[in-house]
Amino acid sequence: MNDILNYSLKSLNTFKIDVNADRFISFDNLYEFLIFAKENKNIFKQKFIVTGEGSNLLFTKDYNGTVIHPETKVFGVLNETDTHYIVQSEAGLKWDDFVENTLKLEAYGLENLSLIPGTVGASVVQNIGAYGVEVGDFVDKVKYICLEDFVIKTITGNDCQFSYRNSIFKNELKNKAIVVAVDFKLNKIPECNTNYADIKRCISDNVDITPMFIRKAVIDIRNKKLPDPDIIGNAGSFFKNPVIDKTKFDELLLKFPDLRYYDLHNGKYKIAAGWLIDVCGFKGFEHKGAAVHEKQALVLINKTGKAEGKDIKELADIILKKLKDKFGLSLEPEVIIL
Ligand code: EPU
Repeated sequence: MNDILNYSLKSLNTFKIDVNADRFISFDNLYEFLIFAKENKNIFKQKFIVTGEGSNLLFTKDYNGTVIHPETKVFGVLNETDTHYIVQSEAGLKWDDFVENTLKLEAYGLENLSLIPGTVGASVVQNIGAYGVEVGDFVDKVKYICLEDFVIKTITGNDCQFSYRNSIFKNELKNKAIVVAVDFKLNKIPECNTNYADIKRCISDNVDITPMFIRKAVIDIRNKKLPDPDIIGNAGSFFKNPVIDKTKFDELLLKFPDLRYYDLHNGKYKIAAGWLIDVCGFKGFEHKGAAVHEKQALVLINKTGKAEGKDIKELADIILKKLKDKFGLSLEPEVIIL
């Protein structure tokens, strides 16, 4: 366990913003941390945040609180039936290492979520999603430290209230729980999801569609479109795709017949924010050291590596204003701005 004062977070956020936290605590043994947490309850009465790889955070200033960083990485099969595996991973395991492990085990379902930055713990808080799949679809149970009585509790996937980039951990259990492990119910018999247009494009007539094929296709698509955070600081999609009702949708479609959207079949429509930003001409647009990614306008980057969090926030605000003026839409950041 580490407990360090005035700690640089530069390597702990994928935007590579150089800010300090007042206190930084990391742990690779859950029970050692649990004992520590019980003895230091005051930490959780003040400002704190739990971080994985910091792949969804934008620090605009020093963090004057405690950063808790789980580094527990144990992975294994808890149970199996004829059709399923229950696979458990501790929170600190890198998400993509976990996905690779599951596929090596021949436990299927997470292949569409390949190469998403972050950790297993963060995956359920954020309900990560890509290429037609959301992690919540496969979560059997989540184990968390309850910060009211410092007992490890279990919640079922059904009770996690998963929705688009959202879960109970961002709402009712916000600041009340630290996710320590997740159980996933994965298929023994592959059910490849190839509905997403980008994946369909990778499929030729003679190809054998296996989960490993999907993983490779997703890795290829992501590498082509999205900047590698190890090379260019970024946090994936900066904004959520806005969800609008039919009246607003009809109005937009009339004005912008090329609009990219997904019909959610509940009277609501999800609009592709990347397209909205793109048609405003923002691709490649620079502000101070920050910029809009040239291949995916939904991704903001720390282009020079020297941008400060507030520069990226200013760029986001310039985009938000333009989208409000042109489309009458108010987008929400997907990234947590601190
Ligand atoms: N588009 C443009 N120009 C752009 C970007 C997108 O015209 O600059 C169009 C695309 O051609 C496509 C549509 O917008 O028709 C949607 O784009 P894309 O398929 O790239 O997906 P997205 O909606 O922009 C979402 C997730 C991504 C996820 C992809 C793939 C959100 C906020 N983002 O992006 O997740 O990888 O779908 O499923 O839901 C993330 O959350 O960080 C993330 C990268």
